[in-house]
Amino acid sequence: MGACIEPFDRCVDRTNATTDPTAGQGEKLLDDLGVVSRPESCVEIDYGNFSDTSEFLGEWPRVSCGKRVLLASDELYGLAAHEVDRWNQHSTSMRGTRHIPNIGRAVWASWPAPHSVSPMDEMHPDTWLISQGRPTELGDPLNWPPLMASNFRLPHDRYYNRTEGTETQNALEDLLGGLESGRALAFSSGMAAVACLFHGLPVGSSVVIPDDPYHAVNGLAVEGEEQGRWTVRRLDLADTQGWIDAALEADLLWVETPANPLMTVADLPAICAAPRKPGCLVAVDGTFATPLLQRPLELGADVSMHSATKFIGGHSDLMAGSLAVRDDALYDELWNRRVRTGGTIGGLEAFLTIRGARTLGLRLERAVANAQVLAERLAEHTEVTTVRYPGLASHPTHANAASFMEGYGAMMSFDVTGTGERASAVVQHTSIINNATSLGGIESTWERRALIAGQESMPPTLIRFSVGCEYLEDLWRDISDALASTAHA
Ligand SMILES: Cc1ncc(COP(=O)(O)O)c(C=O)c1O
Repeated sequence: MGACIEPFDRCVDRTNATTDPTAGQGEKLLDDLGVVSRPESCVEIDYGNFSDTSEFLGEWPRVSCGKRVLLASDELYGLAAHEVDRWNQHSTSMRGTRHIPNIGRAVWASWPAPHSVSPMDEMHPDTWLISQGRPTELGDPLNWPPLMASNFRLPHDRYYNRTEGTETQNALEDLLGGLESGRALAFSSGMAAVACLFHGLPVGSSVVIPDDPYHAVNGLAVEGEEQGRWTVRRLDLADTQGWIDAALEADLLWVETPANPLMTVADLPAICAAPRKPGCLVAVDGTFATPLLQRPLELGADVSMHSATKFIGGHSDLMAGSLAVRDDALYDELWNRRVRTGGTIGGLEAFLTIRGARTLGLRLERAVANAQVLAERLAEHTEVTTVRYPGLASHPTHANAASFMEGYGAMMSFDVTGTGERASAVVQHTSIINNATSLGGIESTWERRALIAGQESMPPTLIRFSVGCEYLEDLWRDISDALASTAHA
């Protein structure tokens, strides 16, 4: 019996998205089956003899894509197999089932499918970021140096940088791909990565974007629509049902979460698990979260995009982007398009991005802790009206964030009392926090967002704040002083 479950028994499901507290007889059955290290957060629903199959079908959507389902009943196996076929016809993310016959009772558990087993299952993501992407031969340096080369002596597999890159670029891709349980491609900027995906859409495609996406993504979407390449539909990120419905009609769901700068968090597990029109891609811009706080591919998204310029690089000294995918055909398609459109990351940037990524875990730990306290204090401050931070219970999409994110991030936005000019004065009256655009650096930055081209529709008094790793009380003093000294501006 133990052999039947062999492919599952070493997997760890970090999503927590499908955890069900209903653990009863099923626990014993799994023990009987010899599952020694059962995933902590696997779904395990014991339905007894399953007289009511509609109950099973009602629960089925909660199993996110890329998971295997262990079914201990012939009847259920038939039902699930049918659902799996239906799902696989409508999605690029596959679900699979495994049948454990003749158990005499039904248990339903979900495990990552074998293809999704990542080497990272063996270690914490922080350790992965520190230990991987390194040369391994005796006498090698511990890190790939910034290999600067456009071409290579032939004959060799590696012949031109724009195509194969160098060991440094490849190491970065290994690092980021493994972190997301997929394969990554590194780009010269976040927007180069976004463009590489969008430009693969067939003419006539239907694209769904949030109603407040990163402004350059909005610009790209609008330009393509004006050229007649695709149509654009906008949806409130908080409208989960709207996104689920859209998946049946769209060719691309572009989900930016948490969103810039209003900090709305989408119900990613629900959106990623929604049945889709054949070929529909779900792509997630997780720049604000980083792969340490959310891993969309594990929830069933097809593409996970990051502007590595931000938290991953982490020192405000480079431009970089990444796309991570699981599907090999999609990877090849994006790889080829990157060759044609020239978005490959440079050698020095790849080196710097790896160097930054090594400390992402440490930096985030401090920055997220700072952000939570600062958001709470700002929310109490008399000179502040609205604080948008997913870690505040008052945040409209706090529940979404709490359900699947592994931390609320280090980004927030807030409104000061008074006018836009007052907000401008606040961001300039600091000695520690830098008035600068962009985000995700070890150093705190903030800006008045409505002054950025393309962001004029933002509230004039909105300040977007990227919380860094400085000592908390120094930051709070800086903020308090800025608010006090501009109170009458
Ligand atoms: C959410 C988000 N996505 C994409 C980008 C674009 O990334 P890059 O500036 O690296 O091109 C940004 C940049 O600010 C961003 O904030």
